[in-house]
Amino acid sequence: MKIENTFGIEAEAREVITYDSEEALREAIARIHKTDEGLPLLHVGAGSNLLFLSDFDGIILKSNIKGHIIKAETMDEVFVEVGSGEMCDEFIAYAIQMGWYGMENLSLIPGQVGAAAVQNIGAYGVEAQDVIEEVKGISLKDGSERVWKKADCQYGYRQSIFKGGLWGRYAITRVTFRLKKHFEPKLQYGGLVKAVEEKGLTKDTLTAQELRQIIIDIRRAKLPDPEVQGNAGSFFKNPIVPKEQADRLLSEHPTMPHYPADAGKVKLAAGWLIEQAGWKGKSLGPAAVHDRQALVLVNKGEATGDDIKRLCDAVKKDVRERFGIELEPEVNFITSIHNS
Ligand code: EPU
Repeated sequence: MKIENTFGIEAEAREVITYDSEEALREAIARIHKTDEGLPLLHVGAGSNLLFLSDFDGIILKSNIKGHIIKAETMDEVFVEVGSGEMCDEFIAYAIQMGWYGMENLSLIPGQVGAAAVQNIGAYGVEAQDVIEEVKGISLKDGSERVWKKADCQYGYRQSIFKGGLWGRYAITRVTFRLKKHFEPKLQYGGLVKAVEEKGLTKDTLTAQELRQIIIDIRRAKLPDPEVQGNAGSFFKNPIVPKEQADRLLSEHPTMPHYPADAGKVKLAAGWLIEQAGWKGKSLGPAAVHDRQALVLVNKGEATGDDIKRLCDAVKKDVRERFGIELEPEVNFITSIHNS
């Protein structure tokens, strides 16, 4: 069966199981243990952060758990539990209509709510962890349910316990968001204040819907639409380096973008490093570095996972040689355990 992925790479799995409730998921798990024990299992979302290097000789699980319930409410906040199979952006649009705020800056990020909690998606100064209260999941081993409070999710930059120590062990079923009833725009990310002013708006009168639209416009201007050209958003993470290394690079490249990170470290812009290494807009076979945002690799049509990986390796090599920095993919490379 064909595996959907936004890179537009042809990949097949033995079976793709889409479940729309915890009960259906438990039934699928029980059946797999009975008839297909030992086959690799992979849980995916909408396929917006995956690169398939081969067919997947195993079973793919996918959440289609929909809907939301309000779990608690105060004068200032609402706690909403959302099905992991909801598209994140559709929920953000709905939340704004309801007067629930905090996710505006994450507008238009592709993917499902469950994946947002796994990947700790982020954009324009906001990360999923800023609005997550708790995450529910079901063990792929025995179907038991587990709940993680935000503090137990080990969130970091595009990182969580679900991508780390628990990788492959749980299916995320529901995510509770803690949202504000009073809108406070978060405009600290470079360029946002300017974008607000360019629209003739001011930060004191800005509405959540207007901020959402500004974010959507910025993303559309820079990031390729996967419907038109296959891609998985940022292909690499922005590297986080020790301060001494950043200082050394800054003395040679004073215009290099850099941001403070945890523990006194410094986050650099991988897009800038790749552009400086001469790769922006360049192709290698049917794979290319996007011409408006060098952090994004695109499938020009008919690319295989290996074509994209070849480009990834070439970009990494040049950035390593030029800057002494090892870029790390943000995208998850998938290969069938049987073939690797
Ligand atoms: N830059 C360049 N050349 C490029 C791209 C960027 O010089 O080709 C420079 C920009 O001029 C700017 C800096 O790099 O000074 C940062 O660029 P940008 O604001 O576009 O953001 P980014 O750091 O490249 C990250 C996220 C994006 C997110 C944006 C906005 C990662 C890996 N990427 O990109 O997330 O939308 O910030 O918050 O952290 C994604 O994860 O898929 C994604 C798109």
